[in-house]
Amino acid sequence: MKHQYRLKLFDFLSCLSDILDWISPMLNDHHKQVALIALRIADALDLPIVQQNEIVCAGILHDIGAISLAERMETLKFEYTTGQTHAEIGYHLIKIFEPMRKAAELIRFHHVFWDQGQGRIHKGMQVPIGSRILELADRVALLIDRKKVVLSQTDGIKARIAEASGSMFEPQLVDAFMVLAEKEYFWLDIVSPLINRQFKGNVRLDTIYLNKAELLSFASLIRRMIDFRSPFTATHSSGVSATAEHIGKLASMDENECFELKVAGYLHDLGKLAIPTEILEKSGKLTDDEFNQMRAHTFYTFRALEAIEDLTMINQYGSYHHERLDGSGYPFKLERRQLPLGSRVLAVADIFTGLTENRPYRKGMSNEQTILILCKMAENNKLDKEIVELVKKHHEEINQVRIKAQENSRIEYQVFLENIG
Ligand SMILES: [Fe+2]
Ligand SMILES: [Fe+2]
Ligand SMILES: [Fe+2]
Repeated sequence: MKHQYRLKLFDFLSCLSDILDWISPMLNDHHKQVALIALRIADALDLPIVQQNEIVCAGILHDIGAISLAERMETLKFEYTTGQTHAEIGYHLIKIFEPMRKAAELIRFHHVFWDQGQGRIHKGMQVPIGSRILELADRVALLIDRKKVVLSQTDGIKARIAEASGSMFEPQLVDAFMVLAEKEYFWLDIVSPLINRQFKGNVRLDTIYLNKAELLSFASLIRRMIDFRSPFTATHSSGVSATAEHIGKLASMDENECFELKVAGYLHDLGKLAIPTEILEKSGKLTDDEFNQMRAHTFYTFRALEAIEDLTMINQYGSYHHERLDGSGYPFKLERRQLPLGSRVLAVADIFTGLTENRPYRKGMSNEQTILILCKMAENNKLDKEIVELVKKHHEEINQVRIKAQENSRIEYQVFLENIG
């Protein structure tokens, strides 16, 4: 039985940032660009390596709290001043995972202006230098016009930054930036498709080892990032997780497998981070394009979790939840023999939860109706018959477990909403 999970934190964060930026081609690599610019400035200032690492971790997720596509696009404006909300949301999402605590604090203040030194303190709290570096890096990144040759733009960008020195940006940071900005490589790396490589040699984030409780707290962090984007999904992953774990027990899966089902339930919709909330929350029918965008989510989940070797099984449980036994699912068109038991359980748990849970615009379906749909799908060789039989037999207790998990998660969501005001 596995007691420890190896997590190469940087590799994973880097995938996560890709997913965040896949939401629009306009945002491609934005998080990585900010992380790299911030790293270069921190290095130029001779900040200790530990601090540089924290700055990179924060940079690579800094806009995680900007939830809709509209909001993400808004953050691309140079004079953007309403950024405190998404910075605060990002902080509250991330702070619960201990190894990211410092990064969360940097994210919290990444839109506080220097304001001739007044910006050292924000709402009675000390603003760390890392936040100010991120603020500058963010603005430099968005001044680059992606359609034009980068080296033809550097003078213009330097002028815009110099103008705002003292008001938006701390002057000593602007000075460090100006020295870097003379060097062509600084700019070429930022827009290079090989940007990933620049972190390899410079970011010394140790591999961390997580015991089961810690892995669960990590998965919870991801769950909150996914679910708390919208009141429509706020408790969904908690419901899927509890349902899958319980069905796993009924199917006599061992303790470790059931634990991994629980974690997989938290992570299964990770790829939805790449889907605009405008689509997630659309009440009418999705257009073909929107539906196809939506269908990509499990692919993204798979590619992100792939970065963590020790999560191979959890990844298969989670990412295959839209595969169907007859090979008609997506994105891999796997068939029954290629789908581990845990994946077949999670597929059923996802549908069971999706149908029975209440949504802001509709009440959940009754158990009876839900079972009818599941049985039909099992008959058509979409879902595993034996698992559906188990659900049919134990639907009441399974539903109680689901309701309880989603109630707890609803309370957690309320507290989160209160925290961010
Ligand atoms: Fe931001
Ligand atoms: Fe940003
Ligand atoms: Fe899904």
